[in-house]
Amino acid sequence: MITQTLPGTPVGIRRAADILRQGGLVAMPTETVYGLAGDAQSDAAVARIFAAKGRPHFNPLIVHLADIEGARTIAEFDDRALALARAFWPGALTLVLPLKPEATFALSPLITAGLGTVALRLPAHPVARALLAAFGGPLAAPSANLSGQVSPTTAAHVLNGLGNRIDAVLDGGPSLVGVESTIVGLDGPARLLRPGGIGVERINAVLGGTLLAAGKGITAPGQLASHYAPKARVRLNVTTPAPGEVWVGFGADCPNATLTLSAAGDLAEAAANLFATLREADILAATTGMIAFAPIPDAGLGQAINDRLRRAAAPRP
Ligand code: TXA
Ligand code: MG
Repeated sequence: MITQTLPGTPVGIRRAADILRQGGLVAMPTETVYGLAGDAQSDAAVARIFAAKGRPHFNPLIVHLADIEGARTIAEFDDRALALARAFWPGALTLVLPLKPEATFALSPLITAGLGTVALRLPAHPVARALLAAFGGPLAAPSANLSGQVSPTTAAHVLNGLGNRIDAVLDGGPSLVGVESTIVGLDGPARLLRPGGIGVERINAVLGGTLLAAGKGITAPGQLASHYAPKARVRLNVTTPAPGEVWVGFGADCPNATLTLSAAGDLAEAAANLFATLREADILAATTGMIAFAPIPDAGLGQAINDRLRRAAAPRP
């Protein structure tokens, strides 16, 4: 199959919605990362998403919707869920909520991997919102990369990993947040399942400080230790790089760094640059096979950046 690149214009969006209605797969831009979208109500389309990514079936998918009304027909929203949805949707927050058995939109059971909960998100990117409106139903969309590899923040990244494995990529420019959504589990006490594009401090402010930190080990089913894995070996918190190491800096204290996530030490800029920089460092490290990252403060978006870097540095299975 040849993957078409569609422009993020009304014509491109209409074409993408047609492909999705026929059960095809389209990579769509979102403000966090590009997602590999398929009709969430079609078993065949959802099975194709798992196959194209090489994703294990025990790892459930996030369902993307156009509006809260649609989301409320799929899952049970309590007061906490409504407060978070009102504060951060559309945006970089995913809520894991109890699935309604009598949901209007009958989701493919493959999406939830047999769990009694479902992960929901309303993306903010205007092209994603226009595509959801044109399609008129929920879209399942994991990040549009091969399983275990670095998430895509441009259409070119998508084609690098999934070219000729999917029908189309809708080009909406670079993803401006740059790390995946924050995932909060609300099927019990509020739990952080994945740090992401909205800082934990902001979520906790809405929840009155009741958010439980991510547990040790695997939290969301897909949070495997090694992920975002480049080819090179990755070291973290490096202030003095070894000879031959591609050093990725942060802030003003790394004047000799080969690359930087943000010379100004800005965490939002660093998150937006993270995955593209990881790809670039991997190319520059082709001969030495060694990448080193400068320390990143572990607050706000820094928590999501450090989480992704730890997984990039984890021993490979
Ligand atoms: O920003 C994002 O969230 C991007 C864009 C495309 O929306 N999507 C994304 O999807 O990161 P993915 O599939 O790469 O990550 C989804 C995560 C996985 O860790 C998965 O295990 C978790 O969400 N998840 C999905 N359903 C869940 C559920 N019912 N309970 C717990 N975790 C769940
Ligand atoms: Mg992913």
